Amino acid sequence: MFRYLTAGESHGPQLTAIIEGIPAGLNLSEEIINADLARRQGGYGRGGRMAIEKDQVEILSGVRWGKTIGSPITLCVKNKDWANWQEKMSPKERFRDDNIHVTRSRPGHADLPGAMKYDHRDVRNILERSSARETAVRVAVGSVAKALLGQFNIDICGFVSELGGIKAIRPKLCLADLRSTVAKSEVYTCDSSVEPGMKELIDEAKSAGDTVGGVVEIIASGVPAGLGSHVQWDRKLDGRIAMAMMSIQAFKGVEIGLGFEAAARKGSNVHDEIFYDRSRASQGSMTGYYRVTNNAGGIEGGMTNGEDIVVRAAMKPIPTLYKPLRSVDIVSKEPFEATVERSDVCAVPAASVVAESVLAIELADAFMVKFGGDSIEEMQRNYAGYLEYLKNF
Ligand SMILES: Cc1cc2nc3c(=O)[nH]c(=O)nc-3n(C[C@H](O)[C@H](O)[C@H](O)COP(=O)(O)O)c2cc1C
Repeated sequence: MFRYLTAGESHGPQLTAIIEGIPAGLNLSEEIINADLARRQGGYGRGGRMAIEKDQVEILSGVRWGKTIGSPITLCVKNKDWANWQEKMSPKERFRDDNIHVTRSRPGHADLPGAMKYDHRDVRNILERSSARETAVRVAVGSVAKALLGQFNIDICGFVSELGGIKAIRPKLCLADLRSTVAKSEVYTCDSSVEPGMKELIDEAKSAGDTVGGVVEIIASGVPAGLGSHVQWDRKLDGRIAMAMMSIQAFKGVEIGLGFEAAARKGSNVHDEIFYDRSRASQGSMTGYYRVTNNAGGIEGGMTNGEDIVVRAAMKPIPTLYKPLRSVDIVSKEPFEATVERSDVCAVPAASVVAESVLAIELADAFMVKFGGDSIEEMQRNYAGYLEYLKNF
């Protein structure tokens, strides 16, 4: 199993993740992870924080001479801003300063429910951890998952498919070409015709002190049939993917394949008919079975069916607005109009990288459950045996 935990506050010294279960012998370097961290930091519409932070990962355990050794992997991403926060975020009691409490909670953020739940009168104790700064280290974990999946020719690409209501049309490209198209876009979209409109929308929102959300789409190719299971609720892969996506800060909806649109169509216009051609298996396909549509998004009955996995997820507009929203001070109970100094206007491009990472983690977990071994070589043997079996099924 691929297990991980993250720790760390937004203005603390660092974000840390410990990953358990990665087999020995996987090539892993800080450079691979840093490339994903740089993508998460980019994208049109980010705020001042991104100019301060230039995220770099440090691998502190579990890797020796460029390869995993089977022990837990510790990843750390330092917060450069820590230098300005050492006393305000210090674990030492002598730095306590009740005059710097944050008592104004932002609508749409974790501030008020978190303060009520944990009995805090200083909202900073909530916002530091609820902040999406945490996604920096989650992306680092996702890079490890992608490295593992890459050993088995499973590829993943995420992009912005909708921004503030402007929809992109995905061109019919292989994932490598789709990735290079997305890499050329400042808003990480796959459709250059809608990019100027998306940027204009972000600029308009910025001038109005507002924020915008959107939809990200993630596709995984090369995934064999049979990951996940129908037998128990928590083994259903679609359920696990939905939970992972919804755990991303500000994500409010998930669709697999047709998703909500399926509810409006007739069954005959939804389900992907099944065909068989024996020669496909000898020409590079994993099986002779194939579909001409993929409305299921690659998952039926909680299991992968051999088609591409297609997941879309909706991100709400960022809750910290320059334009004041009405709220109430949690100490004085007086109304106030929240204003902010620094925040993103739109983080949907960055969120597409986070979503790519969490899908990679769920697929890596399901892959390890099915083909698990203590070394990459052992997994490869297990996988090769399964592929041989599938070809003849
Ligand atoms: C990549 C990314 C960047 C974000 N940046 C901000 C930000 O700058 N300001 C903000 O208020 N919220 C930001 N958010 C969203 C909040 O973290 C999120 O809305 C908050 O934690 C409350 O959780 P919820 O929206 O899931 O209920 C960001 C989310 C993501 C995924």
